[in-house]
Amino acid sequence: MILFKNNIFYLNTNKTTYAMGVFNDGILAHLYWGKRIYNEFCADEVFDFQHRHMAAFDCDCKSTDYIPLEYAPQGGADLRIPSMEATYSDGSNLTVLRYCDYEILNSKPKLSGLPATYAEEGDKVETLVVHMRDELQNLDVYLSYSVFEELDAITRSVRIVNNGEKFRLTKAMSFSMDFYGMPKSDLIHLDGCWGRERTVTRREIVHGNQNIESRAGASSAYHNPFIAVCDKETTENSGDAYGFSLVYSGNFVAGIEMDPYGCGRVYMGINPCKFEFILENGEDFQCPEVVLAYSSNGLSGMSQIYHKLYRTRLCRGKFRDADRFVLINNWEATYFNFDEDKIVKIAEKAAKLGVDTMVLDDGWFAGRVDEMAGGLGDWLENKDRLPNGLKKLSERINALGMHFGLWFEPEMVNPVSRLFEAHPEWILHVKGRTQSLSRYQYTLDLTNKEVCDYIIGAVGRVLKSANIEYVKWDMNRYMSEVGSEFLPKEKQGEVMHRYILGLYYILETLTSQFPNILFESCSSGGGRFDPGMLYYMPQTWTSDTTDALERIKIQYGTSFVYPYSAMGAHVSACPNHQLGRTTPFRMRCDVALPGQFGFELDLNKCTDEEIETSRRAVEKYKELRNVFHRGTCYRLRSPFSTDLSVLEFVSEDENTVILCVYSKIPTVLAADEYIKLYGLDEKATYKLGGKTYGGDYLMNKGYKLCNNVEYASSVLGFIKIN
Ligand code: DGJ
Repeated sequence: MILFKNNIFYLNTNKTTYAMGVFNDGILAHLYWGKRIYNEFCADEVFDFQHRHMAAFDCDCKSTDYIPLEYAPQGGADLRIPSMEATYSDGSNLTVLRYCDYEILNSKPKLSGLPATYAEEGDKVETLVVHMRDELQNLDVYLSYSVFEELDAITRSVRIVNNGEKFRLTKAMSFSMDFYGMPKSDLIHLDGCWGRERTVTRREIVHGNQNIESRAGASSAYHNPFIAVCDKETTENSGDAYGFSLVYSGNFVAGIEMDPYGCGRVYMGINPCKFEFILENGEDFQCPEVVLAYSSNGLSGMSQIYHKLYRTRLCRGKFRDADRFVLINNWEATYFNFDEDKIVKIAEKAAKLGVDTMVLDDGWFAGRVDEMAGGLGDWLENKDRLPNGLKKLSERINALGMHFGLWFEPEMVNPVSRLFEAHPEWILHVKGRTQSLSRYQYTLDLTNKEVCDYIIGAVGRVLKSANIEYVKWDMNRYMSEVGSEFLPKEKQGEVMHRYILGLYYILETLTSQFPNILFESCSSGGGRFDPGMLYYMPQTWTSDTTDALERIKIQYGTSFVYPYSAMGAHVSACPNHQLGRTTPFRMRCDVALPGQFGFELDLNKCTDEEIETSRRAVEKYKELRNVFHRGTCYRLRSPFSTDLSVLEFVSEDENTVILCVYSKIPTVLAADEYIKLYGLDEKATYKLGGKTYGGDYLMNKGYKLCNNVEYASSVLGFIKIN
């Protein structure tokens, strides 16, 4: 898997090769990442870097300004965007890293305090740790590369160790990589806002620096911590696609700088804006992990790598491989207007349709009249709404044969709460400045372990007080006026990263204390839908927008990185609460089916026909979820470029193929649409209803959408018969 030969490291997965070499003066040069190469590289060629006029020679008559580098600290002859910046005790900010040695491990070590992909016993995974050093500053930098041979993924991370005098780290990317030979390529990223998360944006890479970033204190709905670069010609199912995904839930930056010679430096890591870290002698800084996924089968091929890796080697715990709950959530059904009987009535109706979990959303705790009132932070029971307590309610839900789930927003506090009264200093704020409210709440200071332990205790107490088997972990504001009374003044630049470390500590503790609870993360919908959160909670509420047509796009964009098994997807009432639009009930079901399916409405208010459609949808979901969640997903038509959106899922055993077809504007007598399928056995025959098709026919001619209803929204299951 990992070889070192003639000064070149080869990192091979089944289908890919990543190569870097140690150039004369200890420069670690990036040589290649792409389709698997079995032969050795020609060293004379790969180390023959073409000289560029005006570049300063800082290594063996060559310049780091034009050598493709594996990691590129600030200050030398390399004038491109740096991947690391620091100010040392002598006032200088020049870091000169040179190769020292390397180590190959037969495993994948954990990253201290941070979520990351992992290897299990028997997995074919190796890790290369390359040791780089700045002799003058007594600084050691370890570049780690883990190779998942069978999953075709490579992860990278960086650990910076100070063995010299105290210094200030002001930028520490998780990786950078210099691509040669990629002019006129495209950059893809997922941007948006509340309710319109993960819109796919594809733009041409031009000279200069282009990036996306979050400064919100969360990975955010504005940009997802993911970018891809690809050729102009790359489509969903053909061409080269290179993906970069950051396992982190806080501020990040990701981008590419194309230099005048057409070399692109891709980088990703914690956003240096609002960041610095003081490193004393003997201290280290661990950067979050970046996951690299290359496919020569286009963007769907790249996503398939992420889906499998994240589903099986990022998500953890007993729910990772289990069929998850089919839930009904009362939020859009009642908002704050509920009592015990109302919740039980909703659950009773749902239970009859095969729904197995009733989730009580916001408003169950003392002080919570509406979102403008208090109570966040105290987590005491609301005896006005639920006089018999959560215990009694959970018992009534359990008596229906259902699990009971509960909403929390543990990172927040309302100004009107016992907690804030007792500890006004426990919120993020800058002393002497006004702390802005958002949704009438403040963010708790998770840099303070005492605050983290309070949250663990308060949430844990509620979880032990009743039979709670599911938790929705919400977070509904971004950070402003960031400061901590807990940290000394010279460490104020560390607050935003330390907050995320505090959050990870809380999540690690609670999910280990309650391994039988299914945790779902949420941030006003998908405002913190990232791999970091998936490590602790295997599913995320994808968006507060439940309108079917909008959801098609949001889920499609989300699937660039995240498997459908990670996406909470619910059927809601119409006119839709976010947009006022009415879509067919069946379409709402069809759109939610591939995700973690559930309902977000009061089924007692549905017509008989809608109830029957719901019953059939639950049945269909239970029959097909294995294919949606564990199968291979191909995106066949994008809702961002056409009115028609088509997804295909091929089951692990390759015997079932599902097509999900959604059309924005179905028209009478629509033009013939043939959908070419992927991943079939070309020699086999597939059956759909009474018709049979050859695998080769479906892949080359395509499946013809046969009537307008099917064109509007349908979930079609092909079965391989021979
Ligand atoms: C935002 C979430 O996304 C909603 O689903 C709901 O839980 C509300 N918060 C409750 O305040």
